[in-house]
Amino acid sequence: MHKIIRQLEEKREGARMGGGKRRIDAQHSKGKLTARERIDMLFDKDSFEEWDMFMEHRCTDFGMDEDSIPGDGVVTGYGNINGRQVFVFSQDFTVFGGSLSASHAQKICKIMDQAMKVGAPVIGLNDSGGARIQEGVDSLAAYAEVFQRNVMSSGVIPQISMIMGPCAGGAVYSPAMTDFIFMVEDSSYMFVTGPDVVKTVTHEEVTHEELGGASTHTSKSGVADKSFENDVDALLFLRRFIDFLPSNNEEKPPVRETPDEPTRMEMSLDTLIPDNPNKPYDMMELIKKVVDEGDFFEIQPNYAGNIIIGFARMEGSTVGIVANQPMVLAGCLDINSSIKAARFVRFCDCFNIPIVTLVDVPGFMPGTSQEYGGIIKHGAKLLYAFAEATVPKVTVITRKAYGGAYDVMSSKHLRGDVNYAWPTAEIAVMGPKGAVEIIFRKDIGDEKKIAERTEEYRERFANPFVAGSRGFIDDVIMPHNTRARICKSLRMLSNKYLENPWKKHGNMPL
Ligand code: HXC
Repeated sequence: MHKIIRQLEEKREGARMGGGKRRIDAQHSKGKLTARERIDMLFDKDSFEEWDMFMEHRCTDFGMDEDSIPGDGVVTGYGNINGRQVFVFSQDFTVFGGSLSASHAQKICKIMDQAMKVGAPVIGLNDSGGARIQEGVDSLAAYAEVFQRNVMSSGVIPQISMIMGPCAGGAVYSPAMTDFIFMVEDSSYMFVTGPDVVKTVTHEEVTHEELGGASTHTSKSGVADKSFENDVDALLFLRRFIDFLPSNNEEKPPVRETPDEPTRMEMSLDTLIPDNPNKPYDMMELIKKVVDEGDFFEIQPNYAGNIIIGFARMEGSTVGIVANQPMVLAGCLDINSSIKAARFVRFCDCFNIPIVTLVDVPGFMPGTSQEYGGIIKHGAKLLYAFAEATVPKVTVITRKAYGGAYDVMSSKHLRGDVNYAWPTAEIAVMGPKGAVEIIFRKDIGDEKKIAERTEEYRERFANPFVAGSRGFIDDVIMPHNTRARICKSLRMLSNKYLENPWKKHGNMPL
């Protein structure tokens, strides 16, 4: 008995020390925490329950039978974050570079399976050299086991990836299938092929950071949703982030008490819209003035700035905000912003999070680069996502809602539940100038006539009343009342029930 207990302790100590002091020091010298330190920081004190500490790899090639560390390079288990249960895997770079062996993947799959059974989110703390090279195809097979579970879990439990070190090759595809990817600046990177292969194949010279660092993926590719200065910031952020999300697709989002009155008025919003319809204003101001305590959690803040997405709370309950940003590209919808918002709308719909849409959109972005890039197909993604969504949908048109983009932005016709307009709203096929230049083309050159026609068009269409007369908007509201009206609508919608017709799955324009 004593012998067994001693062995147990030795194995536990072996697992805790991972790749040993030298490698732990190396990890710290790069400004990174170890896999276990990360878990300690992520979970409520003493809540973490570790599984499979004694699992070891089964590889015998390349001298691996002489080299085995209990836990095999990944710490797995579950614990509480602010009192709510979450599963985690945290790859240990000090053990074979956090590389994924069959045993390592088996551990990950076990917690993914369990998380599905109990309906709890999975967080992956990724820090890995990829497939365990010594294990060859066994490692590839093991990756695919993880991928399959990512897909089965999608839309059932939230899956979040925090990239805290290397993530290269096919390994990137597991995070890619999770709901959110966050990265740590300067110490993490993601790419399908590294700089050396890039140089051989395309003759481009590029650093790890340029090719797949946090700034590349949060501003150029849109692969990552947000980045953080260091491990500590990233993990503390995750604790705050998880509070917005329900644990699974059958739960409603958590409610947090707030001192912010639902009827709070914001008089300053009455002057937010400039007199000149071509002058931009900051949509972020409206968001912050409307949501609980001004607390808005923006997703992808550095990518496709013409649309804003993120989480906030109204009367304590999580909502997803989708808003055109007139400060960037006049708020036009283009390829990147359509994809960005579509994915967010679908996440909210998967997890019962009501969507509040704030509209000021002059249309889809014109131009050859957009057309050649497939704006038709990509713009359709956002249309599809809003149309398919069955969660409560509240829309406020602040100014422009032109053309197809009016339809797309959670209009009444796409089953918007409550659609409001401010008195400054202009709901029309296009802006007055463009419209007049088409329907009165013969008058072009006669500036007086064109000015008169434009004014006539503006009077007739550049207002919320035509749409109101058709029932396409439910009410014209004063800007200062926006918070109160949205809160009231969401309260009314709290028991909304709507189902799409049965199908295996739709065929979204991918
Ligand atoms: C086994 C690995 C490993 C791997 C690193 N190590 N990657 N062991 N399999 N994939 C080990 C190293 O031998 C070393 O062991 C320790 O981890 C730390 O590695 P270093 O190279 O010293 O660290 P660093 O200089 O920080 O470089 C990190 C790295 C580099 C950039 C990740 O190790 C690297 O390029 N590794 C190989 C990456 C790779 O090609 N992976 C396969 C990708 S293909 P010691 O004992 O010295 O500490 C893939 C396919 C997946 O993943 C397909 C899924 C469908």
